[in-house]
Amino acid sequence: MTKNLLRMHKISVSIDETQILHQITLSINKGEVHVLLGPNGAGKSTLGYTIMGNPRYEVTEGSLLFEEEDIQTQSPDTRARKGIFLSFQAPEEVPGVELSSFVRTSTSAVSESSERLLAFQKRLKENMNLLNMDQAYTSRELNVGFSGGEKKKSEILQMLMLNPKLAILDETDSGLDVDAVKTVSSGVKNYLNKDNSLLIITHNTKILEELPVDFVHIMVGGRIVATGGPELITKVNTEGFHPFEEV
Ligand SMILES: Nc1ncnc2c1ncn2[C@@H]1O[C@H](COP(=O)(O)OP(=O)(O)OP(=O)(O)O)[C@@H](O)[C@H]1O
Ligand SMILES: [Mg+2]
Repeated sequence: MTKNLLRMHKISVSIDETQILHQITLSINKGEVHVLLGPNGAGKSTLGYTIMGNPRYEVTEGSLLFEEEDIQTQSPDTRARKGIFLSFQAPEEVPGVELSSFVRTSTSAVSESSERLLAFQKRLKENMNLLNMDQAYTSRELNVGFSGGEKKKSEILQMLMLNPKLAILDETDSGLDVDAVKTVSSGVKNYLNKDNSLLIITHNTKILEELPVDFVHIMVGGRIVATGGPELITKVNTEGFHPFEEV
């Protein structure tokens, strides 16, 4: 079976006629952990939205394959069903929808076989325990009145319940206290296996210490200017992004 999961080739993206991403080439194989680092405004979230298929982001050139299928014309819903998950930098509040029913609806929407309610509830409980989330949150409205850190945990909970093939985490660790970073990091570790892949966008490299990082990409000004191994994390932490801005 092929190891290819995502193949992005020379993708350029514009928002309202302004070009944000310039010829991005990125390949993610099954089971790999990729990290995307870059200064504010570099285009990292734009890359996440582009992979997910947000219609605001217009792909002006290049190709985007998921499991060797061209997904460029597919809606975000279709992409989610194919196994792509994006956690948002700023998760939205969804009044009137309980956390548990939201997760139930989304897991049934993306999976082919239907999961029995009891099995779903058991899995939800286990994953909430793993994330140190109070069970009382299942009946609260999704993200409504959740603290910043609780919203981020609820995103990770959704990821664990959906078990996507590719999870893109956009600053899921920002605003988390030191213990919560560890909890979220162990949740992410639990998600990883030889088939599941991760693209993690972050400014706080603490979360990466516990993760088996394979590749690190540096994005500056809408371009990937360097790709390497975990040594790039140390370089960024000590020297910042300046060395990459000059290349
Ligand atoms: N909807 C939009 N309309 C206009 N410009 C946008 C829009 N979304 C993003 N941009 C611009 O695109 C650029 C890249 O933004 P993006 O959110 O991808 O950056 P980022 O690398 O995720 O930054 P951060 O680290 O601050 O989250 C920025 O200059 C931003 O202002
Ligand atoms: Mg961003």
